[in-house]
Amino acid sequence: MAMTLLLPPDDAGIARAAELLAGGELVAFPTETVYGLGGDARSDLAVAGIFAAKGRPSFNPLIVHLPDLAAAERIAQVGDRARRLAMAFWPGPLTLVLPLREGAGISPLVTAGLPTVAIRVPAHPLAQRLLRAFGGPVAAPSANPSGRVSPSRADHVLEGLSGRIAAVLDGGPCAVGLESTIVQTDPAAVLLRPGGVPVEALETALGAPLATAGTAGRPTSPGQLASHYAPRACLRLDATEARPGEVLVGFGPVRGRLSLSESGDLTEAAARLFHLMREADRLAGPDGRIAFAPVPDSGLGRAINDRLRRAAAPRG
Ligand code: TXA
Ligand code: MG
Repeated sequence: MAMTLLLPPDDAGIARAAELLAGGELVAFPTETVYGLGGDARSDLAVAGIFAAKGRPSFNPLIVHLPDLAAAERIAQVGDRARRLAMAFWPGPLTLVLPLREGAGISPLVTAGLPTVAIRVPAHPLAQRLLRAFGGPVAAPSANPSGRVSPSRADHVLEGLSGRIAAVLDGGPCAVGLESTIVQTDPAAVLLRPGGVPVEALETALGAPLATAGTAGRPTSPGQLASHYAPRACLRLDATEARPGEVLVGFGPVRGRLSLSESGDLTEAAARLFHLMREADRLAGPDGRIAFAPVPDSGLGRAINDRLRRAAAPRG
């Protein structure tokens, strides 16, 4: 494929990105969580291209991105519980897994043949403008090669996918920095992946506790298994000091060569996590090791720890 275009975050860039999507091409675009690798969700060819560009196993379904709840209702059944969450957190870093409507026109490759579809309404102004300019559903996984660290900046996307996709719409660094929280709402509310909306906030909106996929007993989100979000170097967690040859990424009072947040702020830590995984990888070099300081397991810390555990998991 030809060189990947870096499109500016202006009217011309958005128009070009929408045109490329309409032509069945793949365009990475910023959301407030991470950059997505977008393709027309109605086109088998475009969606197959997403799986190919990422090297993603085809049984792992994709999230459909839409501009608002009304658009979501045309594609999926939005029940009471889902509506309540959508009203509270859309647009934003929440993905809802909903029953797919028959005849919605979504490529079966998007859902990997499941009767449900994952839908997200991103808040990022560029994502909103792109979705409205394109005017159709956009399938978009995180814009990284499968199993690697998710991209929170346009240059992260190019590092992994340059030459394999038509363009990247450059929106600078992502404000949240971690993927969306994924919740299935029927027949019960179940957390499939912790992410940008803290579980505590979801429970407040629902007025009830949220089961986790583990306690519900089914691994419903195939992408959430084993090693993922992995840098090259090996990771050690809960480190309070660097061992010889390690690059320590600190948090709060634990000071390292890098820090997620010197003030111990979880929002800042989430926004910096994936960038620092990449930075630490670079500093550690080919045989290097990375150590991460402990992060509290509440609020966004739950999603941060989820990503750290997966990054540290044995590689398959
Ligand atoms: O923040 C995000 O969610 C980003 C941005 C680009 O929107 N996207 C993202 O996509 O993280 P991806 O493909 O990296 O992760 C999507 C997850 C996968 O683990 C997949 O298994 C799960 O969503 N998923 C998709 N459809 C599903 C479904 N019908 N049922 C259960 N899980 C589903
Ligand atoms: Mg991903």
